[in-house]
Amino acid sequence: MHEGQIQDVAHRVREARAVTVLTGAGISAPSGVPTYRGPGGLWKNRRAEDLATPGAFAADPAGIWEWYDWRRQQLAACQPNRGHAVLARWSHRIERFALITQNVDGLHERADTANVIRFHGSIWEMRCCTPCDDRSDAWWDETVPFPELPVRCPSCGDLARPGVVWFGEPIDPRVLEHSLAATYCDLFLTIGTSALVHPAAGLVGEAKARGAFTVELNLEETPASPWVDLPIRGSADALLAAIEEA
Ligand code: APR
Repeated sequence: MHEGQIQDVAHRVREARAVTVLTGAGISAPSGVPTYRGPGGLWKNRRAEDLATPGAFAADPAGIWEWYDWRRQQLAACQPNRGHAVLARWSHRIERFALITQNVDGLHERADTANVIRFHGSIWEMRCCTPCDDRSDAWWDETVPFPELPVRCPSCGDLARPGVVWFGEPIDPRVLEHSLAATYCDLFLTIGTSALVHPAAGLVGEAKARGAFTVELNLEETPASPWVDLPIRGSADALLAAIEEA
């Protein structure tokens, strides 16, 4: 374990007035949630990139709902890990704390983290595909497994869709605004993300440009590693526990 680096980050977390964290699938990997680009990120030999798209859903709503139902079943059996728990404690203790997550698994919320910014939505959120009058916004549904697929809007009976951001879809402008505002911080940690998918991957660069000290916690090198101030190699849960300990 990189003792000096852990001490440095622990000191900065203690001193910071504003801390912003960006998380990706790697923070949930220790909970047993497969990452998107790691070895477990497959389903019937198809990758998220070709399933999580408007085109795939339009072509085969029942098939794509089968994938989401399978992922929801997997997630229902997973628990937040100690990495989620450390961030949740920080979210209640640090004066200005923002957690931007790319994950749709709901584990930060289940760990009782304050003001989570869900950059890519949530797999537990649903939306009517043809926003009908009284269902124009999203609703929460944790049914596992669904008795019937594809899932339909309880109000109008039309197709419902998962409340997640698919490839090629825009990020909710309010979410983008809150996330950019959160890049004005003393300390920005990017944790467990391959830093490949934009605009989320650009947030750490924004923070650095605005004067934040940037830290990366990841098992491997990513495109962000060469220019964050402090890249630390290791598992997010163990590193976060060590930083909190320090
Ligand atoms: N601790 C720290 N990092 C880890 C761990 C761990 N235990 N396990 C895996 N990682 C790292 C991997 O090294 C990788 O850099 O987590 C990252 C996972 O990368 P991806 O699978 O690409 O997940 P993510 O970065 O969240 O993907 C971004 O892509 O598919 C879309 O919308 C989806 O939100 C997702 C986005």
